[in-house]
Amino acid sequence: MKTFSYTVNDSKTVKAALGRGMANIPADFPEIFNGVDKVCLVTGTDAPPSLRARALALFPEKKGHHFYFWLPPSEKAKTLEQAGELAAFLFEHGFSRNSLIIAAGGGAVTDLAGFAASIYMRGIAWVSVPTTFLAQIDAGLGGKTAVNLAGAKNIAGTFHQPALSVCDTAFLDSLPHSELRSGAGELVKYAMIGPGALRRVVEKNLSKTLAGDKSALTACVSACAAYKIKLVAKDERDESGLRERLNFGHTAGHAFEAMAGGRLPHGEAVARGLRFALIASREKGLLGKAAFHKADALIDALRLPPAGAVRRDFRQFLSLVSRDKKARGAANRFLLAEGPGRLRAAEDLKPAILKKAFEGALK
Ligand SMILES: NC(=O)c1ccc[n+]([C@@H]2O[C@H](COP(=O)([O-])OP(=O)(O)OC[C@H]3O[C@@H](n4cnc5c(N)ncnc54)[C@H](O)[C@@H]3O)[C@@H](O)[C@H]2O)c1
Repeated sequence: MKTFSYTVNDSKTVKAALGRGMANIPADFPEIFNGVDKVCLVTGTDAPPSLRARALALFPEKKGHHFYFWLPPSEKAKTLEQAGELAAFLFEHGFSRNSLIIAAGGGAVTDLAGFAASIYMRGIAWVSVPTTFLAQIDAGLGGKTAVNLAGAKNIAGTFHQPALSVCDTAFLDSLPHSELRSGAGELVKYAMIGPGALRRVVEKNLSKTLAGDKSALTACVSACAAYKIKLVAKDERDESGLRERLNFGHTAGHAFEAMAGGRLPHGEAVARGLRFALIASREKGLLGKAAFHKADALIDALRLPPAGAVRRDFRQFLSLVSRDKKARGAANRFLLAEGPGRLRAAEDLKPAILKKAFEGALK
């Protein structure tokens, strides 16, 4: 097990444990678990039984101390109503500021449970236990919590760091190929935004992760999680531009996800958003042909299924990207690539460029 401890802007200490086959986490982190009066384990109703069994190996049950809350599947969990139901459940069962939420699941579970932890009694502690590949390299780390509103992604949310993130790659053994591929969409992003060493880890392991290779998955979780933690420690609130790199491909990706009405896995939407950003970068003259093809080949390696669920409605796309959190009043704002690891923000891209990138991304 590798452990990380980092301090965020508000001087709070945040910890992360990465590895495979961990057990009895409270014994390793007494400073977090001693004195906790109640624990609520939050998981999704669609999680396999093995997920709950593994979560209980990490956090052994204590009678009268453990409570369980189940969320609806995937994105259906990310609503204000679900956050309210979880908060009401905590209240009915006497949860206090000495209590703890443990969120064990994919990014939808960690986003929602983290959000509920941030509003219940103005904020109680929580532990993030990401169980998908995507959540272990991204969603389950960094303390951004969110719910969706009015058919758009992550419109209400908070920054609320988990006291601890536990990324145990043994969870990934039960993950279907479609979820490995979705996670690999975010993995490819790291190759485009990160330093050379991270890019080499991704390039070396990408096809093996898609095949479920355990050591390749563990190597990628270690490298990507460590990189994300470093960015979050320097720019927790996404203010200096450092953390924003993690959103490469996400402006278009979130629009595709919304336009598919929840039927496009997040990582596939991100992969298509990455292709959108690469095409727009090339068309704007920022990215040379060779660099474009090298980066685009990583997306090809994912062998994405057709994005049939995404409505081919360019006007709706324009409307969604103009309302993106990062647009800041511009007609549109995207992170574009100038080369491997070199990004720059561009505003008010011309419709002709956007249309070409939109069509290329959904091909
Ligand atoms: N907060 C952040 O910084 C951040 C970053 C990236 C993505 N996200 C969010 O994360 C969400 C996507 O997360 P996701 O890709 O994990 O999807 P998800 O949470 O929808 O989970 C996908 C599916 O995998 C199942 N699952 C979870 N663990 C499993 C396991 N070990 N074995 C078998 N099945 C398992 C779930 O039950 C679900 O059906 C999106 O809502 C996205 O917006 C948040």
